[in-house]
Amino acid sequence: SSNKKRVKVYARFRPTSKFSHDNISFDKDGKVINIHARKNVSSEVVNNQLLNWSFRVDGILHNASQDQVYDTVASDMTLNTLEGFNSTLLAYGQTGAGKTFTITGATENYKHRGLIPRAIAQVFRSVEERSDHAVQIQISYFEIYNETMFDLLSTLPESETASTYDSKLTIVEGEDGSVCIKGLSMHQANNEGEALNYLFEGETNRAIASHALNKNSSRSHCIFTIHVRSKSRTESNAKYIHSKLNLVDLAGSERIGKTGSDGLIKREAMYINKSLTFLEQTVIALADKNREHIPFRQTKLTHALKDSIGGKCFTTMIANVYGEASQLEETVSTLRFALRMMRIPVQPAITEHYDPWLLVQEMEKEIMHLKQELEMNNTLANRSQISYDMLSESQIADINKQVRMYLQRKTTEIDVRNLRQMNMVFEQFRNVITEMEQDIKDRFRSKFVLLDKSDSEALIALQKAGIPLDEDGNYLGSTQAAAHGGGKQKHPTSPKRRSGKKSRAGGSPTHRAPISPSLPAPGDHGPKGIKSGAAHSQVVTAQTDGAESTKKDECSVSGELLVDDRSHSRPSTPPPRPVAFENFKKEQGCEIYRILNENKSHLQSKKQIVHNLAHAVNATKHMIDGTRMALERKQNERYEQGEFVNEEGETVIDEEEFQLITQLKNLKQTYRHDYEELRNVKSEIDYCQKLVKQCTQRLVLEFDNWYSESYMQKNGEANPLSWSVPKPGVQHPMRLQLANIPLSSEDEQDKFQRLQETMLGDQEEIAFQNARMRVHRRKVNEQAMNQAQPARRL
Ligand SMILES: Nc1ncnc2c1ncn2[C@@H]1O[C@H](COP(=O)(O)OP(=O)(O)OP(=O)(O)O)[C@@H](O)[C@H]1O
Ligand SMILES: [Mg+2]
Repeated sequence: SSNKKRVKVYARFRPTSKFSHDNISFDKDGKVINIHARKNVSSEVVNNQLLNWSFRVDGILHNASQDQVYDTVASDMTLNTLEGFNSTLLAYGQTGAGKTFTITGATENYKHRGLIPRAIAQVFRSVEERSDHAVQIQISYFEIYNETMFDLLSTLPESETASTYDSKLTIVEGEDGSVCIKGLSMHQANNEGEALNYLFEGETNRAIASHALNKNSSRSHCIFTIHVRSKSRTESNAKYIHSKLNLVDLAGSERIGKTGSDGLIKREAMYINKSLTFLEQTVIALADKNREHIPFRQTKLTHALKDSIGGKCFTTMIANVYGEASQLEETVSTLRFALRMMRIPVQPAITEHYDPWLLVQEMEKEIMHLKQELEMNNTLANRSQISYDMLSESQIADINKQVRMYLQRKTTEIDVRNLRQMNMVFEQFRNVITEMEQDIKDRFRSKFVLLDKSDSEALIALQKAGIPLDEDGNYLGSTQAAAHGGGKQKHPTSPKRRSGKKSRAGGSPTHRAPISPSLPAPGDHGPKGIKSGAAHSQVVTAQTDGAESTKKDECSVSGELLVDDRSHSRPSTPPPRPVAFENFKKEQGCEIYRILNENKSHLQSKKQIVHNLAHAVNATKHMIDGTRMALERKQNERYEQGEFVNEEGETVIDEEEFQLITQLKNLKQTYRHDYEELRNVKSEIDYCQKLVKQCTQRLVLEFDNWYSESYMQKNGEANPLSWSVPKPGVQHPMRLQLANIPLSSEDEQDKFQRLQETMLGDQEEIAFQNARMRVHRRKVNEQAMNQAQPARRL
């Protein structure tokens, strides 16, 4: 079992009549090679030092035939490859030791054929036996000569890569550690013969250099690969295995000096030695459990074999050696390397792959099937025209629009016909809400300075400035007001202030710009109107009682920080804007509000009419089409049966055709009429919508003016805090009539938007809008106060 967990090594002795029995002996189990040598026999110094080596390998192939070698070394490997394991067989050894003979064999002699043709034969035999698997065999063959890779099959016409012999091959590593030679041509082999053709084609392309030792010496590393792609025929899934069997014929491992070569041959030898040295380093690194880095990339050979030596791959090496005394040194060297190879652990494993293309095909098939099922269900349930396709950009935009309308209460329904749309509705809700949140945050930031409650210095500064805050930074104003029943003791009001207020209340003229001739007269909404309203007795109190007015100012700040629902129950404080707005609609603004509602209901009924008309128009169109078709049929019939012409030369038509013609005429008339009507109503709706918008704006404007007139106290001092939190004893300047300050159209737009948002009823939103509104007011007031000051001095 320990054999299974490491690279296997077999030593093959090249047959020779000069086998040195003196130097080489085998143990009886046929696995141990003992080598005895006398060091430096030829040297002048008498040195009879005996050297002994003992190499235990997985098997000794001495005088073994090619088919014996195949059975011992490669047969199981080939079968493993078909099961899905990657397998590699390397032939290593000095020049002329029989690597090429082992791997490829003597191509001119069938009996001496090597491991490649035998593996090919076994592969196709096995494929035929495995009828439950669809197996695809591909062949690739390349060599590494002087650190350059050459595709030995690029000369084939069906080769996909450039047909030049020196087309560039590069090694690409996959995420899973697999290695792929980019640019290497892969050739589909449908049978043994085709696969063998590739082998022979590659053989003729191998770079061969004449050499002192062996005229057929291969000066390159050659890698022949059988790629297996296998998929179960019985299981209908996209799972498949992709494995490969590499048969590697390495270049000779002999030392340079010995062959006496120079020039090109020397350079070749240098490259070969270098790559084999790195192969050795890689092998040592692989055998070392503690090594993390394996120097695969040092040479093309090790890089190309990265996923083919050790690891998940069944790896076997044949150490080709000479049994002659003269080659003892090389033999020892080769067997040393072989022993290092044997220390490399392997854990063969099958990697299953999923064909993405097949997976897509399978899924598409399933989707198609489900769609058909859905269609059938829909037909049975009388639902038609439901699309299950992906939503288009415009459909998504439409859903976004509907969601916005829904949030603005402009619609109560969102059109959803399938799950996809439903999901999109939720997604768009999230988008819109995220957008709104961001918008609110931005607006807050642009208008307010947020106070960090943990900043004690800032808190003290605010407390000094007269803002009632507790140690935690919570605002105390309104809650204490509730607790103390008006907070008179806390903030006694100076008489000065009271008188100042009184004179302002009585003395300032109240102007209001005319709003619209069609709307109630502006005078109706003045202070008189306010006083007459039951809900506004509190305002009267506030204006006649200075102590209360202090409280009121505080609350205007409290409104900024928190919305106090109870405030309307306290006559001394202004109601929150939403409450005031409700009252305003019932009282001072009732006329505008009534007009607004009238317009709205008018708009609504017009919309209904459009809806009905559109239906009618469509129905008529449908009938016209039907009648037209019936008429055409009728006319065709007449043409076919032969026309009947009277004395005047007029074509005579039958009653039925006449009826159809009349009907068509009437229908067309109805269609034209309805269509015209539809257009009219549509333009009316357009207009109505504008009216509603205008009324809404005016209602808000009116309300704003009224609200500020009624509840807001102004202070012209430069201190930004003083406008809302008057200190006791500070004299209030003249109160301004805000209606006189022209508002830009942008402001109106702002208000309209504010109203829309207020109507959403979101408390936080209201608080925010109130706060925003106050800051805006303050700015306008300060501006106005600055303008008004010289006049006051006079
Ligand atoms: N087991 C064997 N039986 C018969 N002939 C062999 C055997 N091994 C090698 N030979 C012969 O020895 C010669 C050299 O062998 P081969 O070409 O396989 O050597 P090599 O290891 O590939 O050398 P190089 O590294 O130079 O490519 C060839 O003519 C081959 O036919
Ligand atoms: Mg060779």
